[in-house]
Amino acid sequence: MLCHFQDEHSNLFYEPIQKQMKKPWIIITIALVAVLIIMQFFQPAKNIAKAATTDDIFFQVQCDQLVKKNLVTACYDCHSNTTRYPFYSRIAPVSWMMARHIKEGKEHLNFSEWGKYEKKEQLKLLTEICDVVTEGEMPMKSYTLMHSSAVLNPQDKEDICAWTESASEEVFSK
Ligand code: HEC
Repeated sequence: MLCHFQDEHSNLFYEPIQKQMKKPWIIITIALVAVLIIMQFFQPAKNIAKAATTDDIFFQVQCDQLVKKNLVTACYDCHSNTTRYPFYSRIAPVSWMMARHIKEGKEHLNFSEWGKYEKKEQLKLLTEICDVVTEGEMPMKSYTLMHSSAVLNPQDKEDICAWTESASEEVFSK
């Protein structure tokens, strides 16, 4: 009887120590979840224009359907006024990362505002488009990881470069 009592007592003594050992992890987990929840309240504005205008590059220069399709699929999410948002794009911090890429991408090149660029700027951008595509710099790696349809094969790249040349001639002769 005495022995039993002692056993019980020793259990009571050790239990709080075990609980204390687990506590930091519980606190860290709760804090992380709380931060993730709070982050969701800070959603960046979406990049969705109501309608394409005649400033869009495809109103401005000739382009065959396949090249057009490839540019829209591989570039327009970051280089136009209309991004297609997948479901996970609503989740911070993914939404923040996307908003930054779109902002920076549009600062360098915005296909939707093509008509507003000076002729010289258009010619420079057309050269750059061929360069970044050929070198595999664009579309960005982090993007093709999630969008396999945006991966350009060697033929697609050649077609885009052939188009940048004909488009440059068109811009030049205008
Ligand atoms: C996930 C977003 C994203 C996609 C998709 C994307 N870009 Fe970009 N692009 C950016 C960002 C961000 C920058 C600016 C920062 C940098 O140079 O890396 C940029 C820069 C550029 C530049 C300027 C490069 C320079 O050296 O100044 C060109 C040209 C370009 N992109 C073309 C394209 C083309 C063409 C496609 C499609 C084949 C494409 N991009 C797809 C985000 C993107």
